Amino acid sequence: MSDLFAPSGATSSPALHDSSFDGSPFDAIPTFADVEPGENQRWTTWPAVTPSERGPQPWPDWVVTSAGALDTELGVLKTGKEADVFLLERAVPGDPSQRVLLAAKRYRDSDHSSFHRSGVYTEGRSTRNTRDTRALAKKSAHGREVAALQWSFAEFDALCRMWDAGAPVPYPVQVSGTELLMEFLGDESGVAAPRLAAVRSDRAELAELYRQVVDLMRLFAAAGFAHGDLSAYNLLVHEGRVRVIDLPQIVDVIANPQGLDLLHRDCVNICDWFTRRRVECDAEEVFAEMLAASCA
Ligand SMILES: Nc1ncnc2c1ncn2[C@@H]1O[C@H](COP(=O)(O)OP(=O)(O)OP(=O)(O)O)[C@@H](O)[C@H]1O
Ligand SMILES: [Mg+2]
Repeated sequence: MSDLFAPSGATSSPALHDSSFDGSPFDAIPTFADVEPGENQRWTTWPAVTPSERGPQPWPDWVVTSAGALDTELGVLKTGKEADVFLLERAVPGDPSQRVLLAAKRYRDSDHSSFHRSGVYTEGRSTRNTRDTRALAKKSAHGREVAALQWSFAEFDALCRMWDAGAPVPYPVQVSGTELLMEFLGDESGVAAPRLAAVRSDRAELAELYRQVVDLMRLFAAAGFAHGDLSAYNLLVHEGRVRVIDLPQIVDVIANPQGLDLLHRDCVNICDWFTRRRVECDAEEVFAEMLAASCA
């Protein structure tokens, strides 16, 4: 069991309020006092995060904001190089209308990560204070923790920005330390949407998926950004629509000295992948279009 799920600070949630409660003493909805987090459960962390650590307003109506909700870990979606992604249910016990599946991405500190992103992504990134800056430089235990925190906050920030720009990213629900909670892209039973790399489609369907990828790249570019790690592994196909994930490294195309190179690499990665599947595309043309969009 993850120690994140040990009943912790969140146990101080206020009493469960339920708008559907009709005052009947025989109502079946359990009260807060009746509920104890079980194994792989914790109280919702929503009340414990600050407003700036919650996703952009308006919150989608499926976001569960009740302090009486429980978070239940349902399993691992994928262990990655620098983070693990878990399937999490956030639900108010006894109220089926307040239940949602979320993806919880938990960054590991660099001791537990097999992957170290190149410094080009972090150039110019600010730290909270000089103690953090020194710790990062020295790669002390505190510094490694700060680095993991920076990635979770960087990804949350990027998701918020791109959500606001109308890009098809999973809705960022909240960030809490090294854990980022976002919309789960998958079905009701917890099966995640496939990566583009795993999708078997005919040429016409692939051409349509390609069109959607270029559309989302254009939205990033118009907001001044390149994804920076775009590939068929960071694109999920959910209900026929392409959604883009894994955003902690998005780069400012103009302000980052490597911005143009990274934008170009994204265009080449995508066009190579589609070209191998006989979809007509030209990386240099896409690059020129993205460049124009980012300068407009
Ligand atoms: N919002 C989501 N909904 C459904 N599945 C998701 C979601 N986010 C991530 N996943 C699953 O977890 C995998 C890893 O996510 P992500 O790419 O963000 O992490 P990562 O640490 O970069 O992993 P990797 O090292 O494999 O690139 C994805 O390929 C996808 O299968
Ligand atoms: Mg990834």
